[in-house]
Amino acid sequence: MLKTHSCGELRKEHVSQEATLAGWVHRRRDHGGMAFIDLRDTDGLVQIVFNPQVSQAAYHIAGSLRNEYVIQITGEIVPRPKGTENSKLATGDIEVIVKKAVILNPSETPPFYINEDVEVEESLCLKNRYLYLRRPRVRDNIILRHRAVKFIRAFLDAKRFIEIETPVLIKSTPEGARDYLVPSRLNPGKFYALPQSPQQLKQILMVAGFERYFQIARCFRDEDLRADRQPEFTQLDLEMSFVEEEDILQLMEELFTSLVEIVKPEMRVLKPFPRLSYKEATERYGTDKPDMRFGLELKDISDIAAQTNFDIFRSVIEKGGNVKGICVPGCGHYSRHQLDGLINLAEASGAKGLTTIAFTGESVALDKVKSAAAKYLTQVQLENIAARFEVKPGDLLLIIADNLDVTNRALDELRREMARRLSLADAKLLAFTFIVDFPLLEWSGMADRWEAMHHPFTAPLEEDMLLLDTEPAKVHGRHYDIVCNGYELGSGSIRVHKRQLQEKIFELLGYSQEEMESRFGCLLRALEYGAPPHGGIAIGLDRLLMLLAGEQRIREVIAFPKNQNAADLMFDSPSYVDKTQLDELNLKLKHEILREVYPSEPKH
Ligand code: AMO
Repeated sequence: MLKTHSCGELRKEHVSQEATLAGWVHRRRDHGGMAFIDLRDTDGLVQIVFNPQVSQAAYHIAGSLRNEYVIQITGEIVPRPKGTENSKLATGDIEVIVKKAVILNPSETPPFYINEDVEVEESLCLKNRYLYLRRPRVRDNIILRHRAVKFIRAFLDAKRFIEIETPVLIKSTPEGARDYLVPSRLNPGKFYALPQSPQQLKQILMVAGFERYFQIARCFRDEDLRADRQPEFTQLDLEMSFVEEEDILQLMEELFTSLVEIVKPEMRVLKPFPRLSYKEATERYGTDKPDMRFGLELKDISDIAAQTNFDIFRSVIEKGGNVKGICVPGCGHYSRHQLDGLINLAEASGAKGLTTIAFTGESVALDKVKSAAAKYLTQVQLENIAARFEVKPGDLLLIIADNLDVTNRALDELRREMARRLSLADAKLLAFTFIVDFPLLEWSGMADRWEAMHHPFTAPLEEDMLLLDTEPAKVHGRHYDIVCNGYELGSGSIRVHKRQLQEKIFELLGYSQEEMESRFGCLLRALEYGAPPHGGIAIGLDRLLMLLAGEQRIREVIAFPKNQNAADLMFDSPSYVDKTQLDELNLKLKHEILREVYPSEPKH
């Protein structure tokens, strides 16, 4: 090894030892005729001191060092002089007095700061990923990821789970997104799909008799990207035989609680994890992935609104819509400009507008509120509204009247925005919550047919089974989600394990016999051979890590993420390929693309 110690490991107990260190120049300062350098490696930073009275040669080398040079030094570990200790740094009690220094490799000036965690334009940080990953925060995220995965593996191993790899070249498993396709050279005209998840394979493993399976599985989905979505992401995927909902939920609660205790002890979890039905979550928070760290719950005032003379409310209610709102504490003083900002936000999430009522006085009185709706309300109606929201002086009501979907969506946005502005969410709290009692199906107006709320393999609730033929909308699925701080972390269900029922659900979803056979024939046949009752869940590992690391975007916890266009800017991928490769795969590009890619080629 070119080093005897790592930079980050040095402590008081190493004092008076000699160490050879190797790492990157993180920062340098010159002071009192000496050079001070923070030397960085994977384990952290340590201060090294170049004193010309100790070594003229090393001091001379220090003069030529720039940020990110890779160096090797040998020196003595000494306590820092009294008063110069740095309690923010793990190695802050000591420093290394350099006797010998060697430049192992110089460095160009990086295109952004590594020693300052300032925002970097996305394309720069993706293109120069190896430099971005050097930032201590990002490096720590990647190390946290390693520790979390290591913990999860050990936890599941202790519970007798077996890790089994499933193939990456598979047949399309519909999970709601587009597939990434891979052409087959040996089977002209045929394609593999990259798995959106190992769903069918893990069920088949249950049929194969592995009662407890898990996998840290790479999944691929060609869908529109957001801060919490990547085209290529990782799931903790697991499946168990002979289980019911409760078994999976308790396993998850134990896993997450102990994971946080071990890898992120400074964070707290709410125990036991609260459980909300899908209905309750959407009624109270407007979403099935509520952030439970703060209140600002939605209240329905449709009954009161229907009695008012306010046309906006009444016309919505006559059309079957709802009037709901949230009460924001202490924002009754909001200016016109601030209210306009909230109206814009409501409109951006699909609402036609936003009604605000500011309670500016000590009492709930029509002449003490500021609202365009006030003149259409009676004193009693205002009091009823105030009572529903438990309004206090100085509060601001944000009210949306629209169809229920839009009302909920807009209020969910406003709720999260107001919590951000008022710093209502405890950054050290991980509010894991289970969402249960989902409907099995949802009606898709666009496709004009039923769609699976989770996926088509989810079992209906036993007692709702008869409703499958008569009122499918009322059938509940044995589906559960785990959400945390406003993100959907994972989803799972107890599965259908009998062919007849699985076929019935496919039929309800509009699949013909031929489609069933071509897409799910293998699973259907497997279910005929003594498939055990089984269920499972998949946790989005990137999202989990994002929350553990306190990040806002999953790309901060992924070593090599893609950008918004699903492109890898470091390798410049996807990219055009040689025409011979296309020929081998029996693929032909469209004329217009062909002309652009191979301008010199003769026309085809
Ligand atoms: P689902 O499709 O809900 O369920 O996915 C499970 C979890 O995976 C994460 N996730 C993503 N993370 C990052 N980028 C994406 N594009 C992305 N898409 C999903 C989310 C999500 O909750 N087979 C079922 C699970 C099961 O039933 O066992 C499935 O994949 O955190």
